[in-house]
Amino acid sequence: MKKLIIGNWKLNGNIKTIKKNIQEIEKNIKTKNCEVSIAPPIIYLQFLKNLTKKITITSQNIDKHLEGAYTGEISGYMLKNIGVKYVIIGHSERRKYHLENNKIILKKIKASIKAKLHPILCIGENNKEYDQKKSIQICYKQIKFIFKKNINILNKLIIAYEPIWAIGTGKNASITHINKIHNFLKKKTKHQIKILYGGSVNKTNFKNIIIQKNVDGLLIGTSSLDTKIFVKIINTVNKITKKK
Ligand code: PGA
Repeated sequence: MKKLIIGNWKLNGNIKTIKKNIQEIEKNIKTKNCEVSIAPPIIYLQFLKNLTKKITITSQNIDKHLEGAYTGEISGYMLKNIGVKYVIIGHSERRKYHLENNKIILKKIKASIKAKLHPILCIGENNKEYDQKKSIQICYKQIKFIFKKNINILNKLIIAYEPIWAIGTGKNASITHINKIHNFLKKKTKHQIKILYGGSVNKTNFKNIIIQKNVDGLLIGTSSLDTKIFVKIINTVNKITKKK
């Protein structure tokens, strides 16, 4: 199976830097054995899409409504219309700064499926929960809510396990911890969905993470903003996957 590498650019970049970075990435990446996707700020999705043939595009957000009187929002139909493939939903930064709860997240997942987009559900425990050894319990709670009444969304979803304490901190989860959570998630979802890892993935730790059997891809923030590092990660993943 092709590994999925997603760069989440969050609230960074402008026309000039995006053009420069995409052209450099496009020119240097090999994507025979992996899929590369980038999530720029939403306003640049279309611009980025027009600059690439090798990279798919991911939206950092979606509205829970598909159309109507919802000033300022962007719907799944609109994202689909400009060629978006994936949508990140439930990222811890949106849960924290935009107060997105499981109910809203479930609506957004449903809206993206209706618009024929692939939702990427982000889950993960915070520092305190990690210290209290509650990681599995928290992740299970976050997926259980989604799956409870919606068994049919199982095969349309991708999960990104992103421990909150590892996001943007330079402190990635250990391989043992990643395997523990990913193995659990694979089992709970009957090995039907892709599970990505995210949280301080960088040029030195990515290799050990991506070679794990139940790690289907990476969601990369900080290190995806450095084009040279991002290209290096992609090309190495492409090479390792080929040899397997
Ligand atoms: P990070 O961000 O790689 O900077 O930790 C990951 C994410 O937020 O998806």
